[in-house]
Amino acid sequence: MCGIVGVLSNHEVAPILVEALKRVEYRGYDSAGLATINAGHLDCRRSVGKLINLSDLLVHEPLQGKSGIGHTRWATHGEPTIKNAHPHRAGKVAVVHNGIIENYLDIREKLKRRGIECTTDTDTETIALLANHSISQGKTAVEAAFATLNELKGAFALAFLFDGEDDLIVAARKGSPLAIGYGDNEMYLGSDAIALAPLTDRLTYLEDNDKAVITRANVEIYDANGTLTNRPVKVISAGTGQPDKSGFKHYMEKEIAEQPSVVKGLLQQYLTTNGHFKDIPLDIGFREFDRLILVGCGTAFYACLVAKYWFERIARLPVEVDIASEFRYRVPPIGNKTLALFVSQSGETADTLEALRYCTGKAAQTLSIVNVTDSSIARESGLIFPIQAGLEIGVASTKAFTCQLTVLLILALKAAFDKEAINDAHLSDHIASLKDIPTLMRRALDHKDDVQAAALHISLARDVLFLGRGLMYPLAMEGALKLKEISYIHAEAYASGELKHGPIALIDNQIPIVMMAAPSDVFRKSLSNLQEVLARKGKVILVSDEEGIQAAGHEITMSVKMPKVSPLVAPILYALPAQLLAYYTAVAKGTDIDQPRNLAKSVTVE
Ligand code: M6R
Repeated sequence: MCGIVGVLSNHEVAPILVEALKRVEYRGYDSAGLATINAGHLDCRRSVGKLINLSDLLVHEPLQGKSGIGHTRWATHGEPTIKNAHPHRAGKVAVVHNGIIENYLDIREKLKRRGIECTTDTDTETIALLANHSISQGKTAVEAAFATLNELKGAFALAFLFDGEDDLIVAARKGSPLAIGYGDNEMYLGSDAIALAPLTDRLTYLEDNDKAVITRANVEIYDANGTLTNRPVKVISAGTGQPDKSGFKHYMEKEIAEQPSVVKGLLQQYLTTNGHFKDIPLDIGFREFDRLILVGCGTAFYACLVAKYWFERIARLPVEVDIASEFRYRVPPIGNKTLALFVSQSGETADTLEALRYCTGKAAQTLSIVNVTDSSIARESGLIFPIQAGLEIGVASTKAFTCQLTVLLILALKAAFDKEAINDAHLSDHIASLKDIPTLMRRALDHKDDVQAAALHISLARDVLFLGRGLMYPLAMEGALKLKEISYIHAEAYASGELKHGPIALIDNQIPIVMMAAPSDVFRKSLSNLQEVLARKGKVILVSDEEGIQAAGHEITMSVKMPKVSPLVAPILYALPAQLLAYYTAVAKGTDIDQPRNLAKSVTVE
C-alpha cells in the first residue's frame, strides 16, 4: 500500500515525481502529494483522490524545485482527506511513509508532554513532528531523522526531506520495500523498480532496518547496527513504457483477454514440446517432503485452495493451506521435511512475506510463485517460479490467477511423477489436457453472450451466492471475490454440499445463485445440490459445459456454456467466466473497474 518516490535531480522534479507516482498508483489512490525544496525552502502540494487531481492542482499551483519526494496513499490511519494526505510536514521536515507506525499513540503522548499537538488522524505525522523537534533541539537533519527512526515500531518505508537541504533525502526501510536508484549525478528513491524504470535500471534494495543518506553524488547506507555498509547495485529491467490498454476499455478486460497467450507462454516455459518438465529445479526432490504448506492472500489464496486438491489427489502429498494473515499467528509447527510454498502476484504482500519469513530456516525448502521477480518475496525465497503474466494493473487479479494455477498444476504433476504416484501414461494425459487450455480459453472468450446476459441479471441484485463443489469450490470463492471487489455487490461462496447446513435459508426468488459446475466425479452431487436450490425457487445461473447444462434441465434461469474440458484442468478454464461475470456486472453498474474503491493492488501492510 502507498507508493513512495524521491528524486534529487538537476531538473525540475515535480513532473518527474508525478510520472513516477503514476507507475506506483496501483499501490493506492486515496490521495497524492509532493514536497520539494523550492529556493531552499520546503513546499508541498496535496490532493484527495487519484493522482490526476494532483496533476490538475499542479497546473494551477506549480511546484518548483530540483529535489523532492512524492506519495500516493492507501489510507490506514485517518480518512482520505487533505489533512491526512502525505507528505506530512512539521516545520522543517516533510515525510512520506508506507506502512504502519504501531507505537504512534505513545509518540503522540510523548509529543504532547513536550507541548506538541498532532493535527491529523495519521500515524505518519508523529514522525515529522519528532524529527522537527529534534532539529529544534540542535540536531542536524540526518541526526534528527536517525534519532526519530530509532523510536519507531511497526513497518515502514520512509523518506524525509528537509527545509534548507536541497541535496539530501534520508530514507529508511523496515518491513515495507524501498529501492534506491542511481542516475548520472542524480539519485532516485522508489517503492519498487517499476516506479523508477524510466529513470534508471541500476537499483539497490534497502534491507530491513537500513537507513540511507542520499545526495546527488552518493548514497551512504547504515545497517541495523548503525554500521556503514555496502548493498549490491543490481541491474533490474522493469519495462520503461507507460502501460496502455491496447484498445480495451479497461486494464481488467485486457488482462482477461491476455490469458490464452500468457498461459501458453508459461506452458512453454515449464514443459518441453514432447511433454517433459523443464526449469523445475528443487534443492531436494519432492520425494523428500512429507508435507506441503501453501500460503497466500485473496486470489492467490484461492489458487492455493485449488492446488490442495491437485497435490493431495495426484501427488498424494498432505497439504495445509492458510491465509497468510492467519498463518504465522497460529505459530504452526514446521517440520524439516516440509515444503513451504507462497503464492503472490506482487511479491510484496506483507502478510505473505511475513509467513515466508516465519518458515525460513524451519522448512526444508521455501518456494514462491510470483509475478514480480524482483519483489521482496522473490528475493527472500529459497526458490522462485515466475508466472510470467506480465504487468497486471487491474486491481482485480485475473491473468495472475490462471498463471498461478498453471504453475501449481505443473508442480503438482512433477511431485506426482517424482513420488511415482502417477505413471507415464497418466502424466502424458494430464499434460495434454493442460496444453489444450489456451485454445479452450480462446474459445470461451469468443463466446461471451451468455456471460454478458447473466451479468446484466446479476447487476440488479443486492446479494449473490456462488456455489461449487470439489475443484469448483475455490472457483466459486474467486467468483464471489471478483464480484465484490469491482461491482460492490455482496457475494458469498459456499461449498454446494454445505448449503443445507445453513446458507440454504438465504434462498428466495430474488437472490441469483451462480453454480460453478465443471464436469467431475462430484458433478452428479452438484446436480442434487442444484435441485435443493430449485425446490426453493432459487434463480440459478449454471456455469457448465453443454452436457452439464442439459443434465441440469429446464428449471435453471440461465446458463453460461463452457467448452468441454478435462476435470483436472477445469479450474484454469472456469476462472474466465468467474472473472467475466464480475467484469460485465461492473460495466453494467458503471463502477471504477481498474481502481475499485478502498482497494490497492499491492497490500504492503499487515
Ligand atoms: O500480490 P498478491 O497476489 O500477494 O495479492 C494478494 C491479494 O491481495 C490479491 O489477490 C487481491 O485479493 C486481489 N485484489 C484479488 O483480485
